[in-house]
Amino acid sequence: MKTLDDLLGEGVSGRRVLVRADLNVPFDKADPSRISDDGRIRAVLPTLITLRDAGARVIVCSHLGRPKGAPDPKYTLAPVATRLGELLGNPVVFAEDTVGPSARAAADALLDGQVLLLENLRFNAGETSKDDAERGAFADELAGLAEFYVDDAFGAVHRKHASVYDVAARLPHYAGGLVLTEVEVLRKVSETPEQPYVVVLGGSKVSDKLAVIQALLPKVDKLLIGGGMCFTFLKAQGHEVGKSLLEAEMISTCADLLSQADGRIVLPVDVVAATAFDASAEHDVVDISDIPADRLGLDIGPKSVALFAETIANAKTVFWNGPMGVFELAPFAAGTRGVAEAITKIDGFSVVGGGDSAAAVRALGIDESGFGHISTGGGASLEYLEGKSLPGLSALES
Ligand code: 3PG
Ligand code: MG
Repeated sequence: MKTLDDLLGEGVSGRRVLVRADLNVPFDKADPSRISDDGRIRAVLPTLITLRDAGARVIVCSHLGRPKGAPDPKYTLAPVATRLGELLGNPVVFAEDTVGPSARAAADALLDGQVLLLENLRFNAGETSKDDAERGAFADELAGLAEFYVDDAFGAVHRKHASVYDVAARLPHYAGGLVLTEVEVLRKVSETPEQPYVVVLGGSKVSDKLAVIQALLPKVDKLLIGGGMCFTFLKAQGHEVGKSLLEAEMISTCADLLSQADGRIVLPVDVVAATAFDASAEHDVVDISDIPADRLGLDIGPKSVALFAETIANAKTVFWNGPMGVFELAPFAAGTRGVAEAITKIDGFSVVGGGDSAAAVRALGIDESGFGHISTGGGASLEYLEGKSLPGLSALES
């Protein structure tokens, strides 16, 4: 895989460099114009600054959300361009389309050391198309804007999309520093984790995490499960879970996993059960054998936090993906906070995998320096740990 250093060696001053970034940031639910966590923008700054300072004409592209292949103002990258400019200390030029007249004119007019952000890649059907020719045609247009391609979008390397996969075949291609760091950390965790190795998984669905659970079970000393997905496991153990999230079709799979795991899967022993999915709903801590029929579990309880923290404290390696509860609502944030804080205290190496967990760390004001690495990729880091080949990485390798 060629790196940014190799590219600098080619001489980039005055040359147009297309950088694929993952600027898919969350917005505030109450104020949809406010970026609630700019971690992904900050993570790509070193690459952009290196190119800018070397005099390159930097053309940044990204997706945001999941628009349906046509322009949709709800998913414009315009506010991201503003924030990126603030962080770079210089305004960023924004193109109102991705490969159309606005993008081409802006790319042509770029000065040495200037940064341009193209409008959302997913406003174009070719970006995510399953049809190689349709994706290829869009990749031709993207590649036509620049002379070199840098992929620093770790969060999207698991997608076989035009800007991630096909463009690399059309331009000299290089891995950005973020992609390199992420891959190095995940390789270390998946190939040679120092034992005890503890994995903490949360989030809402077992079905999303099934492949990674199967891949990790033989490798881990303990697998701690919280979040909405724990209720399907609790049900598989014979507990009634009231109105909690439940994937009925996964109950028998969970039962199989529990028997294979031979005690290595650790589930909550108590939960915070509420009358509704609402910050003002009535709620109490209950043991998992006493979840009322008319309530839903929205966080793990204090005894579970203590149990998880004790297991985490002995670990030399921890990988954590997925919140333990609905941390966005204050009454249901203690589980995620307790587990995150326990991870920051280990005498070992910890990795926070992913979008939601990384955003939770920052939203809860937990000291980021307490973690070994905070990944920018949720799905991407999980697929890496599953041992899958990731299209964005294979494209860079070839
Ligand atoms: C993410 O947030 O998971 C990445 O930006 C990839 O987005 P996607 O899941 O919509 O492809
Ligand atoms: Mg995703």
